[in-house]
Amino acid sequence: MTASAPDIARDLLGWYDRNARSLPWRAPPGSPPPDPYRVWLSEVMLQQTTVAAVKPYFEAFTARWPDVQALAAAQEEDVMAAWAGLGYYSRARNLVACAHEVARLGAFPQNEEELRKLPGLGAYTAAAVTAIAFGQRAVVVDANVERVVARLFAIGDSLPGARKSIRSKADAITPDKRAGDFAQAMMDLGATICTARDPKCLLCPLALDCDAKAEGDPARFPVKAPKMAKPERVGTAWWIERDGHVWLVRRPGKGMLGGMRALPDDGWNAGSDGNCVEPVDCDWQDCGAVRHTFTHFHLTLRVKSGGTLTSPGEGEWWPVDRIYDAGLPTLFAKAARLVLATR
Ligand code: ADE
Ligand code: SF4
Repeated sequence: MTASAPDIARDLLGWYDRNARSLPWRAPPGSPPPDPYRVWLSEVMLQQTTVAAVKPYFEAFTARWPDVQALAAAQEEDVMAAWAGLGYYSRARNLVACAHEVARLGAFPQNEEELRKLPGLGAYTAAAVTAIAFGQRAVVVDANVERVVARLFAIGDSLPGARKSIRSKADAITPDKRAGDFAQAMMDLGATICTARDPKCLLCPLALDCDAKAEGDPARFPVKAPKMAKPERVGTAWWIERDGHVWLVRRPGKGMLGGMRALPDDGWNAGSDGNCVEPVDCDWQDCGAVRHTFTHFHLTLRVKSGGTLTSPGEGEWWPVDRIYDAGLPTLFAKAARLVLATR
């Protein structure tokens, strides 16, 4: 039988008081909220990216740009390079645009509706900042929360269709007070106890409140619609070297890995992103290929070195011995590693 909403909130907050993870962007349970800038930055980084991967980036960003005014004054290329490796690079461009807007306003707006109007702030981020940085009630639903709620209420509809009912149940159990702690408690429960493959119900503060546990097979929730296989794409990138320097281009602002430094390539991004270059037919050595998976496809990128290009496009000669400081996105960092390993 399902427990009442206040029971769930009380049990979960009691557990959070004892077990909250200590994270660099967090205030301890029950204490005044952290700086909105740090909350916003961490929540943008944490979309689609794990806590472990985010931590060093968060530390580096806040050391270099300690407040939103500092970030607003940064060169966009520097922010893009500092973001390299985190993926989903449109987040970094939106980050800069949002910092400009907040610096212009003087501070972060303090309610969900106004936050939602900032560049790059979707429903999730606006709700998370409202609850965590301003202590106001907001319904915060990320993948961890979705999983916990789908289990608590044994919601049998499949994702993504079940999102609406999951959201309304999440709304029903969100308390008026300590909304930020509640949201982060749900995330911690999902990350450490109510995990995707192996829910540890024996350790769970909500075990007595949970319909999926009562039914006996909680890992079955949330039910997922069958996934479409990701298509395979192939492409070629060129490593052109002269006097200890390699030719790097900057990818066009819109499109895959937009705004990032990269090796020149053949425009494997279907629909051509203007990044295509013609290799001169000479001397190319095949260094092998790297694999990388994006949201909607797998890519096998062949890497060739030793030749030249007819029209290399706009770019710069970058010192090979500092190639890992170039802020290459993971795909091209893998390609560089391959070239350097094969000689
Ligand atoms: N994932 C997204 N936001 C988070 C937060 N504030 N704490 C832990 N994990 C998160
Ligand atoms: Fe998740 Fe099990 Fe807790 Fe239910 S009892 S919320 S399935 S860990």
